[in-house]
Amino acid sequence: MTIAPVQRSTSLGSSAWTDARLILALEEVVEKELDRHLKVAKEWMPHEFVPWSRGRDFPGVLGGEAWEPGDSKVTPLGRVALVVNLLTEDNLPSYHHEIATMFGREGAWGTWVHRWTAEEGRHGIALRDYLLTTRAVDPDELERARMSHMAEGFVSDNAHSMLQSVAYVAFQELATRISHRNTGHYAGCPLADQLLAKIANDENLHMVFYRNLLKAALEIAPDQAMRAIADVVTDFRMPGHGIPGFERAAAQIALGGVYNLRIHHDDVLQPVLRHLKVMEIGGLGPEGLQAQEELGVFLDGLDAQATKFDERQAARLARVAARKQ
Ligand SMILES: [Fe+2]
Ligand SMILES: [Fe+2]
Repeated sequence: MTIAPVQRSTSLGSSAWTDARLILALEEVVEKELDRHLKVAKEWMPHEFVPWSRGRDFPGVLGGEAWEPGDSKVTPLGRVALVVNLLTEDNLPSYHHEIATMFGREGAWGTWVHRWTAEEGRHGIALRDYLLTTRAVDPDELERARMSHMAEGFVSDNAHSMLQSVAYVAFQELATRISHRNTGHYAGCPLADQLLAKIANDENLHMVFYRNLLKAALEIAPDQAMRAIADVVTDFRMPGHGIPGFERAAAQIALGGVYNLRIHHDDVLQPVLRHLKVMEIGGLGPEGLQAQEELGVFLDGLDAQATKFDERQAARLARVAARKQ
């Protein structure tokens, strides 16, 4: 679909872009990015990553064997991270609701929303089948956590703003990619590593889609997009923050090197910001300039915080190593 040339706006004055106008103005970009996505996304089969022959019945209807922690060789860190990743994927109905409400279900936007939902659905299916077949986690505990997490629902922090929503998903898809990939590295199971690499690849393509959309938004409405990026980056939290026991799990995940401040700064925020040249964009109005400056101050502070975390972590590891000698 081709639309009329978009009206350019460089300040937040009376000509500020509304969400409805932005959605219309970006439809052409969505169509182009959707085409590109469909060309590069390769079909893959979640069931091929599940060792079905290792599966055993559980107690209850089939009178099988109760789960025991020794049933699987997945590392304790891998178990925690895999459960957080799966429960995060599980809340897909809420995520679908949020983006379908924001972006709509018609035209290229709608096609993307539904395609994205179908791809994300594969992640939860594959992870659950893998975890239950390999008996890597307590199945009753997992089911109770899923019920409790999904029953809470997920409400986007950015539902009030189209640009904030696009900015958030650009960073969040990359955060999810890195989290899956690093979970695979530390899981202690080559098959889990392969499955998580496959999922991480999907998340990367999702990130590219939203990042390219954010690039177009920065061209159309630079001041508003800069404000949205600054707001999202300075107030970012992972989509799984509502998972029961999330704080404790997140601390283990941070200490284990799956996802922490250093990774968030170096592998998630900076690659997107650098690609979009966010800190170098010129010609901004006063509002855009202020947002850019806030972003710079925040990133410096985060980098310093990450360095402190790294130093404490190195000291902790040195103490553990000394104790083992
Ligand atoms: Fe996913
Ligand atoms: Fe994704």
